[in-house]
Amino acid sequence: MGRWQKIAIPFLGLVLAFWFYSARENFKPEMLKGKRVIVTGASTGIGEQMAYHLARMGAHVLITARTEAKLQKVVERCRELGAASARYISGTMEDMAFADHVVKEAGTLLGGLDMLILNHVGASYFGYYNGDVEHVRKLLEINFLSYVAMTTTALPMLKESKGSIVVVSSMAGKVGFPFTVPYSATKFALDGFFSSLRQEFTMQNVNVSITLCILGFIDTERAVRDAAGVLLSPPAPRAECALEIVRAGALRLRELYYRYGSTRLPLLLRDCAADLLDYLVRSRYRL
Ligand SMILES: NC(=O)c1ccc[n+]([C@@H]2O[C@H](COP(=O)([O-])OP(=O)(O)OC[C@H]3O[C@@H](n4cnc5c(N)ncnc54)[C@H](OP(=O)(O)O)[C@@H]3O)[C@@H](O)[C@H]2O)c1
Ligand SMILES: *[C@@H]1O[C@H](CO)[C@@H](O)[C@H](O)[C@H]1NC(C)=O
Repeated sequence: MGRWQKIAIPFLGLVLAFWFYSARENFKPEMLKGKRVIVTGASTGIGEQMAYHLARMGAHVLITARTEAKLQKVVERCRELGAASARYISGTMEDMAFADHVVKEAGTLLGGLDMLILNHVGASYFGYYNGDVEHVRKLLEINFLSYVAMTTTALPMLKESKGSIVVVSSMAGKVGFPFTVPYSATKFALDGFFSSLRQEFTMQNVNVSITLCILGFIDTERAVRDAAGVLLSPPAPRAECALEIVRAGALRLRELYYRYGSTRLPLLLRDCAADLLDYLVRSRYRL
């Protein structure tokens, strides 16, 4: 073993141990008790699981998505699990007036807001970029602009509560991913907007945390359907992923990487060996 490894391996171990314990030891489910939380895209997938975790922790949950029948069921389950209150508002995030309306309803129904979890994504295709510029525009509206609109409307309430914004992004929002060109563009846009906004909050002493969540492949129905047979990596469980997101938001972490080994570690290559990282990403695809 060379001198470099002798130093680097224990050092890496220390860093990982510090990260692991500093984040995990402080979290208590009571942190969410009585908190007023909006979860978008909560009719299914990771958003649905976040609603259940928040309900178990005794939060007030306000969920939204388009499909009313599914939202009704999720709300019922949230009540069974012990939510302080559970409500839904159905509508589409293609419409910025609707995005705005959801946040205003939190003000009216809950008297304020402690956490805004932005999680919804519009449907896209999984394949080579097809040249459809209109689709890119529409996806930017759903996946990016509605996040901006909701944040803007929620900001006075979040300042008041010293609250948190949680933005669900992806590995595809940190490094180029084939077959998801429009989606990847919308996720990179989120990083630009929210990382810049975080800087301004610090400069202006605005005590609202922003947590950007960088997720790998998760076992939601949509993702598994899209990527089955193409992506070689096994998906991680959505319930555990959802808990990690809620926890990261409550701890006011800057970023969450889930799972760490398939997101943070490869991303360490981005600034020193970008071509190698690109190659590793492509090597996970079977054509
Ligand atoms: N699953 C993964 O492998 C993975 C990987 C990296 C990042 N992520 C991120 O994790 C988050 C959740 O992903 P997921 O896999 O749980 O997604 P999902 O199962 O497809 O759920 C998407 C949610 O967004 C809602 N939605 C879709 N179009 C909408 C629209 N136009 N207006 C309002 N709501 C809309 C859907 O409900 P309706 O259809 O009822 O509207 C649904 O509740 C996303 O931000 C995604 O980018 C996921
Ligand atoms: C910001 O708000 C959080 C949550 O209320 C609090 O724990 C933290 O001490 C505050 N930070 C500052 C710098 O005021």
